[in-house]
Amino acid sequence: MTDRVLLSLRGVFAGYGSGMVLQGMSLTLAPGERVGILGRNGAGKTTLMRSIMGLLPIKAGTICIDGESVAAWPTHAIARSGLAYLPQGRELFAALSIEDNLRVAGLAAHTPVARRVGGEGSVRSGLNLEAIWDLFGWMRSRRTERAGQLSGGQQQQLALARALIAHPRLLLLDEPFEGVQPSIVEETRQILREVCTKHQIALMIAEQDAESVLGLCGRVVLMERGMVVLDRPSETVQANPTLLEEFLGI
Ligand SMILES: Nc1ncnc2c1ncn2[C@@H]1O[C@H](COP(=O)(O)OP(=O)(O)OP(=O)(O)O)[C@@H](O)[C@H]1O
Ligand SMILES: [Mg+2]
Repeated sequence: MTDRVLLSLRGVFAGYGSGMVLQGMSLTLAPGERVGILGRNGAGKTTLMRSIMGLLPIKAGTICIDGESVAAWPTHAIARSGLAYLPQGRELFAALSIEDNLRVAGLAAHTPVARRVGGEGSVRSGLNLEAIWDLFGWMRSRRTERAGQLSGGQQQQLALARALIAHPRLLLLDEPFEGVQPSIVEETRQILREVCTKHQIALMIAEQDAESVLGLCGRVVLMERGMVVLDRPSETVQANPTLLEEFLGI
């Protein structure tokens, strides 16, 4: 594992109105690392992702990308630095075809401004449509179908493909497996493993269900009341199933 840090949060407080949801959240993520963020309903997982993406201003603490504070950055600048966010629930253009949904996302991602990559100054090119068709085999032959006509699991895969086309350095997925049938969940997990490994994409995935992130992520972070209460390698958690029980009540 590299010593380099892609994302770091230190003592972050954030919330809505006068109520604090994140209450001293600290976390670091290395390039290419995959971490599962577990926590019950209301633990603050979505709030964490929204704060990282600059969609919710933080009240205290620091959030850094490549060691640089991004607290004052607008969301589009954070996205351009290589972060892609897939919010809870799918946000597709239902009336557009599969291919047009992907093209729109590709256009948004490939602005003329060279995107920084880990301070190395090189430009990270997008994943092209061919690469997407290779990953999600069924999409190629159905690319003219409207997104709104797809099943829930297929829409989720299309939403994921949209996020991937930007070739992010870090992909933030908020409960991507919610309401998706188990066979599609397993297929999607396999695709994520493959694409993240091949293209060096770090992953932060929020879920309530531990099973869906263990085996995909090397590390598991458990949140409770806006704080990290457990941060362990997945192997450790798998070897000690009772570790999570205490917190998740499973
Ligand atoms: N827009 C909002 N305005 C006010 N309070 C909010 C808002 N969004 C979330 N909250 C509150 O913040 C707390 C944390 O919510 P958050 O959505 O971050 O939790 P979560 O871990 O993502 O939960 P879930 O697993 O249900 O998605 C909850 O108490 C929630 O009611
Ligand atoms: Mg949530």
